[in-house]
Amino acid sequence: MERTFVMVKPDGVQRGLIAEIIGRLEKKGYKLIGLKMLTLTPETAALHYAEHAGKPFYPGLISFITSGPVVAMVWEGKNAVKGVRTLMGITNPTEAIPGSIRGDYGIDMGRNVVHGSDSPVSAQREIAIYFKEEELVDYQRDM
Ligand code: CMP
Repeated sequence: MERTFVMVKPDGVQRGLIAEIIGRLEKKGYKLIGLKMLTLTPETAALHYAEHAGKPFYPGLISFITSGPVVAMVWEGKNAVKGVRTLMGITNPTEAIPGSIRGDYGIDMGRNVVHGSDSPVSAQREIAIYFKEEELVDYQRDM
């Protein structure tokens, strides 16, 4: 089983999309094993988005992602990293296919509703930023 990190971004929270996003992942069959709501500090945001430091959109990304509460989650399932990214749609909501979360709800590259890890290595790194291992749970998930 693979784990991935998913975050409902401040725009997703403000637009009332938390349940919609959780519902799509849950109905697909992924297992929610970690969940918390928090407002990111600039330090946590910088850690999360370290690979984008220096890019033109970086200052806007950090100020947006720290602008309000987010929902941080860990989801588990077979090929969860890739599968969740398919459900989310590509980064640019203008090109994300209808039926995907970003395709249905996003309109702006920066405010694209949701984040999901881009690889199992990123997932491991991102999960460790937000969760201690003992904060993750295990239970029987019936399909
Ligand atoms: P996310 O999946 O959270 O990873 C990095 C984020 O940077 C991305 O989603 C976008 O919301 C944001 N971003 C803003 N502008 C750009 C851009 N020009 N290219 C890529 N990502 C961008």
